[in-house]
Amino acid sequence: MPAPLPIAMVAGAEGPWRITRIAAPIGAPLPAAGRLAMLEGAAPVPADAAWCLRGVTSHIRYTVEAERRRLAGMQAGLGRVEATCACLIPIRKTPAWWDLAQDARRAILEEQSRHIAIGLDYLPAVARRLIHARDLGEPFDFLTWFEYAPEHEAAFDHLLARLRATEEWRWVQHEVEVRLAR
Ligand code: HEM
Repeated sequence: MPAPLPIAMVAGAEGPWRITRIAAPIGAPLPAAGRLAMLEGAAPVPADAAWCLRGVTSHIRYTVEAERRRLAGMQAGLGRVEATCACLIPIRKTPAWWDLAQDARRAILEEQSRHIAIGLDYLPAVARRLIHARDLGEPFDFLTWFEYAPEHEAAFDHLLARLRATEEWRWVQHEVEVRLAR
């Protein structure tokens, strides 16, 4: 596991990704903006940004060893030339979720909701990055990031529909969907 990497999702006039749509499946959306950059490490954030969400990459919490191995054997990295579509999904879970113990959260995420099993169905077409933000006092607990080729957009939509129908999503209190293209 590489060292934690600070990430800033910066929306504004600049960045490699064009924002094509902002939707809010649960709660309020984010303000409209033209472009988005995912800045890594200590890169400075432009003062005129429309909005900026921060987080940090981290270690796994719920994945068991057999799942970790299966994921590692199947997943693709970010930045593939053919992956010209991306989606940023910031998520905040309820206070009740955070009151649960680790084993109860794992049971909801996987034994009840099959989050990892469902996700595996979409590898390697969808590449992902999970960014943690809760401990930084940010408005969202997670910034989730996905990259895929245009021909896999329908599969990505299907993945979202399956996850949003699970028990886990009953513990989500704010979710925004930012669609991107480059
Ligand atoms: C967590 C896999 C798609 C949102 C996780 C974890 C895995 C995983 C293994 C657990 C990490 C850990 O052990 O700490 C996948 C795979 C996907 C996928 C293979 C297929 C592309 C998605 C999508 C969303 C999403 C589309 C958002 C709509 C999250 C969130 C967490 C998470 C918010 C953190 C949950 C928590 O810690 O409470 N995912 N996922 N995932 N995933 Fe996914």
